[in-house]
Amino acid sequence: SQSVLTDRFGRTVNYVRLSVTDRCDFRCVYCMAETMTFLPREKIMSLEEIAQVARNFVALGTRKIRLTGGEPLVRKGVVDLVEEIGSYGLRDFAMTTNGSQLPALAEGLRKGGLDRLNISLDSLDAEKFKAITRTGKLSQVLDGIDAAKDAGFKRIKLNTVVMKGRNEEEIPELVEFARAKGLDITFIEEMPLGEISEHDRGLALCTSEEVRAIIARHHELELTDDDSGGPSRYYRMRDSSSRIGFISPHSHNFCSTCNRVRVTVEGRLLLCLGNEHSMDLLPLLREHPGDDERLREAIIAAMDLKPERHHFSSDGEVEILRFMNMTGG
Ligand code: GTP
Ligand code: 5AD
Ligand code: SF4
Repeated sequence: SQSVLTDRFGRTVNYVRLSVTDRCDFRCVYCMAETMTFLPREKIMSLEEIAQVARNFVALGTRKIRLTGGEPLVRKGVVDLVEEIGSYGLRDFAMTTNGSQLPALAEGLRKGGLDRLNISLDSLDAEKFKAITRTGKLSQVLDGIDAAKDAGFKRIKLNTVVMKGRNEEEIPELVEFARAKGLDITFIEEMPLGEISEHDRGLALCTSEEVRAIIARHHELELTDDDSGGPSRYYRMRDSSSRIGFISPHSHNFCSTCNRVRVTVEGRLLLCLGNEHSMDLLPLLREHPGDDERLREAIIAAMDLKPERHHFSSDGEVEILRFMNMTGG
């Protein structure tokens, strides 16, 4: 069945990114400040409320759900939530994770019906990895990647945020790692979400053009026509089934084909990553528990709030005050 969610610009929304926690065991420099205050329990949706939101989006034609965080796998009961949402008959059910909890959880997630995983990996050097993630441990994530491979996910993609002076010179090694493991890898331009004083985004930005030029020294890259309506543009290497993606919010505007909305763990329906337009669903969930019809009406009405495009610019002119861990990327 067709999605009934369309916005004022004729775009169909059939993809929802659900953040299941604002917490994380890492403190990546581009995402969080060193000291963070997280939401108190009463401000976040229960697992039942998250499932209710998911179920009603599916009833409105959503075919793809991605669970995000913070780090989704630090939320207690997340495997049960995956099992629940996994029974809704989605065409695509995915998660974006930092990988640290995958050694213990990968198998249960796959069994629960999760199809695909995106795992963040910014460095293969233990010290650099630590400098970027502050509290992360590389070996744990590498074990997590192997556990995910063993669990038989349909597709595993690595995500790398490229930063000058931090991991830029590791790009060829990261590509080789992805090839050797048979995984896809996407290089991401950093976005200005949340003001992080210890980290200078302007200096660190490495454009996708620069990254592609570095890879092109080693591999002939061929643009694929794989276009899932998402922000990533994918290339193929001649002698590998791994794909290389680029997410370039600074240079490539993909807003005209945007098919997605986000729901924060506070129950705020966000219509665009790069804007503040949103609708608060939590009061409705709490004042009218179990009222699916009212929830669907609110979701439909919110589509009118979806803005035409984001206005990120590399000069830091537009800075969104919400941190990335509230949005899940
Ligand atoms: P698919 O949606 O399955 O294609 O995966 P994805 O690569 O979009 O998702 P993932 O969670 O791995 O996010 C990777 C990067 O893409 C993160 O930095 C996200 O913030 C960014 N991203 C995802 N969707 C959007 C979007 O609509 N706009 C912008 N500007 N960035 C996005
Ligand atoms: N800009 C771009 N990507 C980011 N991510 C987190 N913060 C930012 C940012 N400021 C990425 C993470 C992860 C995904 C959820 O978003 O690396 O892969
Ligand atoms: Fe945690 Fe992901 Fe943010 Fe890193 S980018 S601090 S892993 S939520």
